[in-house]
Amino acid sequence: MSTQILRQVQNQDLTVRSLVESDLPRVMELERLGYSHPWPVSVFQDCFKPQYRLWALMQGDELVGYAVVNYMVDEAHLLNVCVHPALRGHGAGRYLLRYAVAESIRDGMVQMILEVRQSNEAAAALYASEGFEEIGRRPGYYPDATGREDARVMVYRFT
Ligand SMILES: CC(C)(COP(=O)(O)OP(=O)(O)OC[C@H]1O[C@@H](n2cnc3c(N)ncnc32)[C@H](O)[C@@H]1OP(=O)(O)O)[C@@H](O)C(=O)NCCC(=O)NCCS
Repeated sequence: MSTQILRQVQNQDLTVRSLVESDLPRVMELERLGYSHPWPVSVFQDCFKPQYRLWALMQGDELVGYAVVNYMVDEAHLLNVCVHPALRGHGAGRYLLRYAVAESIRDGMVQMILEVRQSNEAAAALYASEGFEEIGRRPGYYPDATGREDARVMVYRFT
């Protein structure tokens, strides 16, 4: 983690811990703020299984973000990463993403893969700046206001 990012997150008093099921009401508040098509709570509940890692980004005692990763053999699939709107643009998303990547490497994963909406330029810029590259598109992967939207598929090979 770069010194600059570390300083930014220390200034914001950010830490990461494992997400627990009792966090889900707060997670759902952030999920609804973060996405046009939020996950229902049942999808989060289904992720509390051994092959998943769920992380809570904390600012002091307040949950301000989360990430959900699914391990498939030696590949980590980033399913969700979200930061409270009030905190965005100050390095919190990068901090959480780096944490999830570091944990995935520690757990023996060789790469991380994700889908991101074509229109989600903020997230795609974050991923690209962290070493993810676009390897393809999934046409009509996401619902949107008028129909369907493509996903960019991005991968970060750890070695
Ligand atoms: C994507 C998300 C997690 C990023 O969190 P964040 O805390 O704002 O991100 P950071 O402050 O760490 O920004 C890291 C980089 O992302 C990019 N970025 C962030 N906001 C951006 C914006 N509004 N426009 C363009 N790029 C942006 C920049 O490359 C930035 O690096 P820089 O600050 O050096 O320019 C956050 O925007 C979010 O929660 N969005 C809603 C949920 C979502 O879309 N999740 C991703 C699903 S695939």
